[in-house]
Amino acid sequence: MSITEQKLTKEYSRYMWQTDSDVPFTEEMILFTLNAKNTTYALAALSDGHLAHAYYGKHIEDDDISYLLRLGEAPYTATVNIRDKGTVMDTQLFEYPCHGIGDYREPCFMIMDEDGMSSCDLKYKSHKIYKGKPKLVQPDMVTLPATFANEDEAETLEITLLDSHSGIEAVLIYTAFNDLDVITRSVHLKNTGSRRVNIRRVLSACVDFDSDKYDFITLNGSWARERVMERSPLHHGKQGIDSVKGESSHQNNPFAALVSHNADEDSGEAYGFNLVYSGNFFAQAEVTQHKKTRFVMGINHFDFNWLLEPGEEFAAPEVVMVYSSEGIGAMSRTFHDLYREHLIRGEYKDKRRPILINNWEATYFNFDTDKLIAIAKQASELGIEMLVMDDGWFGHRDSDNSSLGDWFVYEKKIKGGLKYLVDEVNKLGMKFGIWFEPEMISPDSELYKKHPEWAIQVRGMEMTQSREQYVLDYSNKEVRDYIYGLMRNILDSANIEYIKWDMNRQLTEVGSTSLPAERQRELWHRYVLGVYDVMDRLTTDYPHILLENCSGGGARFDAGMLYYSPQIWTSDDTDAIERLKIQHGTSICYPPSAMGAHVSDCPNHTVGRTTPFSTRGNVAMVGTFGYELDVTRIPEADRNMIPSQIEQFKKSNPLVRTGDQYRIGNVFDDNMWDAWIFVAKDKSEAVFTFVQVLGRPNYNSRRIKLKGLDPDAKYLSSKTGEVHSGNVLMNAGIDISVHGDFASEVIYFTKQ
Ligand code: DGJ
Repeated sequence: MSITEQKLTKEYSRYMWQTDSDVPFTEEMILFTLNAKNTTYALAALSDGHLAHAYYGKHIEDDDISYLLRLGEAPYTATVNIRDKGTVMDTQLFEYPCHGIGDYREPCFMIMDEDGMSSCDLKYKSHKIYKGKPKLVQPDMVTLPATFANEDEAETLEITLLDSHSGIEAVLIYTAFNDLDVITRSVHLKNTGSRRVNIRRVLSACVDFDSDKYDFITLNGSWARERVMERSPLHHGKQGIDSVKGESSHQNNPFAALVSHNADEDSGEAYGFNLVYSGNFFAQAEVTQHKKTRFVMGINHFDFNWLLEPGEEFAAPEVVMVYSSEGIGAMSRTFHDLYREHLIRGEYKDKRRPILINNWEATYFNFDTDKLIAIAKQASELGIEMLVMDDGWFGHRDSDNSSLGDWFVYEKKIKGGLKYLVDEVNKLGMKFGIWFEPEMISPDSELYKKHPEWAIQVRGMEMTQSREQYVLDYSNKEVRDYIYGLMRNILDSANIEYIKWDMNRQLTEVGSTSLPAERQRELWHRYVLGVYDVMDRLTTDYPHILLENCSGGGARFDAGMLYYSPQIWTSDDTDAIERLKIQHGTSICYPPSAMGAHVSDCPNHTVGRTTPFSTRGNVAMVGTFGYELDVTRIPEADRNMIPSQIEQFKKSNPLVRTGDQYRIGNVFDDNMWDAWIFVAKDKSEAVFTFVQVLGRPNYNSRRIKLKGLDPDAKYLSSKTGEVHSGNVLMNAGIDISVHGDFASEVIYFTKQ
């Protein structure tokens, strides 16, 4: 059993300084203990109905840890200390704190009722424990993306809380995975009362830590430098990240970790939190007056309101919580295993992805059928398996200023039609993939002429353009049906086996012409649910199509998107050296096998840097791998390298997809080098990659200690032909000497 409950009745006495006597009291509680592999999480429904947090960390034996809920001199609960309930409320470690009842730390839940009141007090009503994991369903709309597990893989605790004043019922859903250090949380609301209630804030999880001795890790950046890891010690007050852009964003990723000050890749405690959501999010760590830390995460409450009529329900997205007592590296590997096995779905879940060539950086908008076929012909001879036609094949799109929403083939460019092009590519033995940006509408489009009201807008206000485009109102089913219908026409017209779903701007003037005034603030979230709805239809109707998500590079690299697409374009920055930071940060919680990564031309279009073709390949091989260049025009020496790169990718990709990643070096330390190794789960083989940033005189030899091998096994090095024990390779290390800026090396180790 991974989840247990204990009903406890305790007799205590409390010293009352006013009377100088001991006052006896009886405390009754239900203590819930969740065990996930090597993790324990414990909480209790106290006799006053509040849910208190007891413990989160390394596995501890089933025991009565209710003593942890005593607050020093203060008694357990508000019930036994009613005269000073306020102190208890602002001190106790809670599971799902409400606004307005004396807990002045960051709340998870806040309402506005018909009387304009915002206080609420969710109290224990009932619970159930069952095997498996439920789906998170927003009634009449969509099933939310979430991790999944069968009855042998996980157990779930549902605790129903009720705010008797408003009639709002909140079901807290906790799932503990048997074989992974993972506990997931989400919240499902129902208005059981007779009056309307506005939900002003509904976060998905709170963890109250008993200490402030943590560093806060987040993944931040901008366009072309997404998810660069930052780490800083917690301090009094609130530190957090969020998105208010309508997508998870380039700037902050919906991931945060609290790690012990001494935590590094291989040791120390790490608590990782990731929201399975693709819209506005909020994550915050708050160091309180008592030097404790409250961490909360969920949909951003900024500009959010959701009206719950009597009987209506609301499903909040899932927070994945990963605990590691063996450093940040182990935390990442747990996230990778979880997402590879329990989030990513579809035919490509466990398969190597086709090696693609994408024409974006090769041609931008300047292409036609002949150009694409020429690229495909050359690519097919080199062993590349799929041609992806990027932006510019529809409407009358010759630049980024028109035609979004007009998903009709642009015959001037695609001469002979789409089917002809796809057939020609197929004849070369290659698959064909296509680009869409389904959430957008150009002011210069047939669609905008017919349906200007379908754009997100505040009537009477100027609409802000970004990349000369507007965003479609995906909360409106008619809009979704129309766009999806056009996509279907294209998909049914030719043998299309891959889609790149792009999204190139953030939301402004967030208003809908189809929602009533009292539901306008729901649009941020309804938009995301609408996107999920179309992705769900697409992946259900076309299960053989490989879907790759993208958002102006990597602005929507999140777990919500991974539920629909097994890979996501990591960044528009394809420079091998910039990618070291981007891919390092992304791998903190997302599997490298899901990172879209391509070899592109040099000087690099984003940073102007020239790196060796081999290094571009070695860095892209950590991800899905492909090419994004005009293969007919690159230097012959580079072109000649492609077949051997492909061979190397085919050899290393199974380890990337199914093995364990250990980060060995990183460019942050001294900006000199980076290194990583992927090791098979059975430790039978490994692929090690080293990348030098800048060469230095008289400093081109380094000893690097490998990780993750079997210390007792012997390994053959593909570089030296020598055999050494895992113990030697991990403790004494290997010698790496590469020469020149941006040089790199890949070495395979095979168990003998
Ligand atoms: C942004 C993407 O990140 C690029 O790869 C490319 O598809 C362009 N959009 C096309 O407009």
